[in-house]
Amino acid sequence: MGDCVLRIEKLTKRFGANVAVDAATLDVDKPCMIGIIGRSGAGKSTLLRMINRLADASEGSVTFEGRDVTALTGAARRAWQADCAMIFQQFNLVPRMDVVSNVLHGTLNRRSTLATVFNLFPMDDIHQAIDILDRLGIAEHAPKRAEALSGGQQQRVAIARALMQDPKIILADEPIASLDPMNAQTVMEALRRIHEEDGRTVIANLHTLDTARRYCDRVIGMRDGRIVFDGLPEQLTTGVAREIYGADSSFSEAATSTEIGALDKVHTLEMEAEAYV
Ligand SMILES: Nc1ncnc2c1ncn2[C@@H]1O[C@H](COP(=O)(O)OP(=O)(O)O)[C@@H](O)[C@H]1O
Ligand SMILES: [Mg+2]
Repeated sequence: MGDCVLRIEKLTKRFGANVAVDAATLDVDKPCMIGIIGRSGAGKSTLLRMINRLADASEGSVTFEGRDVTALTGAARRAWQADCAMIFQQFNLVPRMDVVSNVLHGTLNRRSTLATVFNLFPMDDIHQAIDILDRLGIAEHAPKRAEALSGGQQQRVAIARALMQDPKIILADEPIASLDPMNAQTVMEALRRIHEEDGRTVIANLHTLDTARRYCDRVIGMRDGRIVFDGLPEQLTTGVAREIYGADSSFSEAATSTEIGALDKVHTLEMEAEAYV
């Protein structure tokens, strides 16, 4: 892999009079792990959906390796969607279907309708699916129904399904928002490993600051549809976070945190302010 060049230029999405994403511009020059933070309604999901062409931009462009992907149609658009696989908060698995078949659904776009109808999967694909599940530590659950697994395991199944497409980019929309802290950690570690070991770019919308700081190389902050911060995790001070979240002086990091034990900490702005003096 290695040559991930993604350019997003003045990407805008309007819903009537509401500007959900307002001229977002960012460049990714090499594979990295990016966290996007911001309060609910800031435009994070819409931005990811435009990148992967689940939503069409009102204006602006997304270019990948020199190709404008906002202009792709038909098979080319589907190929792009395989190149930038999407992971969702609610996993989007077929609950009553077994785990390995759920993973194999990641190959549907390259199979014939007939094979799909009869649920015929090539043996090579089945082996590959099991290998990916094994890598994510859940191969033993392959024959079980997806619904029998914990949330963290189901999200890893969804990651496995994404990996079946051999994507260059993984877009994750609040991948850990419905998980308890232990499962959240397992899923974030899986995404981090996929970035480090495979050289895939991961772009994840995250609802907690500490997750972004801990796992990402770069953090993007959105507010009211605009990118208001783009920098290193260590540059994400409480003051910057307050600007992104638009919080008043009662803003507390604990309120945006799911880190184990973080809720026990009294980590207020005032204390943080003292630390930066
Ligand atoms: N399909 C839609 N139709 C109309 N408005 C939408 C739609 N999707 C999102 N929006 C609006 O766009 C803004 C950004 O939403 P979203 O991208 O979901 O934000 P986030 O993911 O940061 O919570 C919000 O004001 C939201 O109400
Ligand atoms: Mg969202």
